[in-house]
This record gives sequence, C-alpha cells and structure tokens, in this order.
Amino acid sequence: MMKRKTRPPKERIPETELKKLYADNASYLLHPWTPRPPPYEKPIIVGGEGVYYWDARGNQYLDFMSQLYNVNIGMKNRKVIEAIKKQLEELVYVSPYVPSVPKIRLARRLIEITKRVFRKTFFTSSGTEAVEVAIKLAKIYTGHFKIVGLWRGYHGSTYGSASAGGYTDVREQTEPPVPGFVHIPPPYCYRCYFGLEYPGCNIRCAKFLEDTIKWEGPDTIAGFIGETIVGGGGILVPPKEYWPTIRKICNKYNIVQINDEVMTGFGRTGKMFGYENWNIKPDIITLAKGITSGYIPLGAIMMCKEIADSFAHPPYFMHSYTYSGHALACAVALATIDVYYEKKLPENAAKIGKHLIEALKGVQERHESIGDLRGMGLIIALEFVKDKATKEPFLPANPKALPEETPLTVLGDLCMKEGLRIGMGLGDDPIVRLCPPLILTEEDADKAVAILEKGVSEIEKRFLKS
Ligand SMILES: Cc1ncc(COP(=O)(O)O)c(C=O)c1O
Repeated sequence: MMKRKTRPPKERIPETELKKLYADNASYLLHPWTPRPPPYEKPIIVGGEGVYYWDARGNQYLDFMSQLYNVNIGMKNRKVIEAIKKQLEELVYVSPYVPSVPKIRLARRLIEITKRVFRKTFFTSSGTEAVEVAIKLAKIYTGHFKIVGLWRGYHGSTYGSASAGGYTDVREQTEPPVPGFVHIPPPYCYRCYFGLEYPGCNIRCAKFLEDTIKWEGPDTIAGFIGETIVGGGGILVPPKEYWPTIRKICNKYNIVQINDEVMTGFGRTGKMFGYENWNIKPDIITLAKGITSGYIPLGAIMMCKEIADSFAHPPYFMHSYTYSGHALACAVALATIDVYYEKKLPENAAKIGKHLIEALKGVQERHESIGDLRGMGLIIALEFVKDKATKEPFLPANPKALPEETPLTVLGDLCMKEGLRIGMGLGDDPIVRLCPPLILTEEDADKAVAILEKGVSEIEKRFLKS
C-alpha cells in the first residue's frame, strides 16, 4: 500500500482508538446502501489533497470516484477554503425569503455560464431535492401529472425522486411508488433492450418515448426526465442522435424536458454541462454535486423563461427549504465555479478522459473479461463479462455469494490495497465506474490503469480460469 510520506505521523489514529471508532461505526450509524459486515473495515478517511485522500492508518488512495462523483476540483482547494473562511466571517445564513449577495450573484453566474438557455434558478441543498422541485415545476406548468423516466436512472432515494428513477433496489423500498411515473428503457447500446444495434437501430430507445406518450395519453404527460448520461445505472453514454430525438418528441407533445445534470454537470463530460455535448436546450436542468464539489451541500434547478414566467404571478411556487439559497453554500459555489474556469477543468476532463480511454482500450484488448468500455470526459465505465462473445455478466453463479466470492468486489479490494479507489454499482451489475476528480493528470491516470490491470489479471486468474 502506498504511504503518504509528507504526512506527519502524529496525524495517525492509534489502533486502540481506531478499534473503538470501528465499534461505534457499527453500533451507532445506520449506513446507506449495502455496508460490508465486519470483520471488513472500510478505511476511515482523515484527510485528503487533490486527487488523493488518506486514512487513519496512513494509507493513501487515488480517488477514482471523486468521493461520490462530486469532488470534481479535488480536496483541499485553497481558493474554496479561503472563500469559506471569508463568508463565515461575513454571513453564514439568512432565511430563504431574504435576498443575500452570494445567492443573487450565484443565480446570475449560473445563468451566464449556461449561456442564457435558462431564465431562473431555485436553490436546494441536494440533487434529490432539486429533482423533486423539477418534477413539481413540470407538473404545475403543464397541468398534467405524469412524468416519463428511464429504467436504470437514478435521481435520488426519496419518494418522488425514487419513483422518477428506475433503480430497482431503491424502488423496492419505496413501494408503492408515487402515482404518475412511467418508464422507458435507457440507451444501453451494449445490451440494447430492443435487441438492436447502433446505428441500424434508428435510435429506437429514444423513439419509444413517443410511443409511450401516445399510449399513456399526451394530455396526461407533464415531462420527461433523464440523466444526460445515466450514471449510477451504468454510465450509459447515448449516441449523438439520442437527445436531439428526445428534444423533438418533447417539443411535438409540448412536454417539459428535464435533464438531470447532477452527475454530468460542472465539467465531468468534457463540457461544462453534459447536455452541451448533444447541442440541445433542455427546459429544466437539475444540479448538485460538482456545483460546490462537496465542500458544502448545495443543489439547484434552472428553468427556461416560459416556466419561470408562469410562476411570476399568483399562485406562486409554494415550495421552500430552510436552507434554500444558503449564503455560505452559494459563496462556495461561486468560488468553485471560478476554479472550473481558472483551471480549465472541463477541457482537462476531455483531454485526460481521452488519454484514459486509450489506455483502457489496451487493457480491454488484453483481457477477456472487459466486454465494454464506454465514457465521455471523466465519466467512464468498464463492463465485465465472463466471455466477450456471449456477454455473460461476470458475476458469481450464486447470487448470495459472499463479497470475497464476487469478482468485482475482489477487484475493488485489490485496487484499494494498491492505493486506488474505483466505483461499483448498486446490486449485482458487474460495472466499474471511473470518475476521478477533473484535476487528474496523465501520470495519475497511468498509475490507476496499471493498478487496475493488475487487479483484472488477478480476478481472471481466480474466477475465470478455474
Ligand atoms: C444523477 C443524479 N441525480 C440525483 C442524485 C441525488 O443527489 P443527492 O444525493 O445530492 O441528493 C444523484 C446522486 O447520486 C445523481 O447521481
């Protein structure tokens, strides 16, 4: 395991104290998603800088998940830390009804950086809350109640956001879902749900939206919501015709197009916003994660003029959060946005993303288990199979297999041991997500690919060649 030499040893937490922390972690916290039971010990993070973080035992990790796809500018960015300190001294919080300088400035900045495609912004504290607002805006604006979403999509875990999403594990615990949500298959070219192949498919998955609207009744549909690139659900990069086709259908039926940019926003795809890659104008976008790069929670919804204008008179938008437009969070977002531009991070994501994909193509060619490699900028996925010809997922035969019997969990553990953190999906999809901070260098990328390839060789030896 890589040790961070520059860290003073006194920062380490003694083993006796660590033991107590792990016991308390197991006793007092309800953990999100699927925690691994003891004796597995997830490293307790005590610090980080740039693309690296380190744990209580002094091990250092290269973070190819940007924590949760959000720490785009890397950890310990001085500009953002100074902005936090300054804002703390000036003004931390005012009621959401009260204007504050950072809130107003951020609203203007967002309108400018989205090139005036949108007219107004509403602030939240998270992506989930942003999605809830987007859904309500679409319903109130159109007077219709149905929202079409994507299977495999993820928009949050609350009732509305989970109902809009198509993530089975999340939906199961939200049953019965909120009425009025219908779903269509996502653009998953590697495993097309229509059994077709691009480009001969004629973008059936996008055109299926029109069929669905007709079957459900056009007068019942308020909007369509989709992540610009389905992220948590497997990093499904749509073909170039996908979003323009969706846009045309939304226009034809006068329904609101909502692009969830929580993950694809703020440079990750190589452009400032993901939708810019498809040259389209959504009616609403949802933002969070990269807007503050995790330095403090913030979410936002941006809407087009027509929707904004419809709330300019009574009945106004009867919706609020105590922390909507939190002054400190808005100041952090302003500083973070400066960092994106000053360091040209979208451009860096495009450049390093290309380099990474090239290097990964080599790994894919050398290994039988990597069936698909897809990505855009620094949002990349590797899909693992037992056999490239049959595309059988690289999963254990026993669905109740222990983590140490599951190839991708073992891959994740092997990488962690070597100082690289990679991302796994929920449930049993054998897809590795690579979403490093956008400040990544070619050297970091090469280091990660070498560790990853070593791990892939090991899991193939253990699980394929028995
Ligand atoms: C695309 C997308 N939308 C919405 C959300 C929910 O955001 P949050 O976790 O900030 O509530 C997420 C979170 O991962 C996401 O990836």
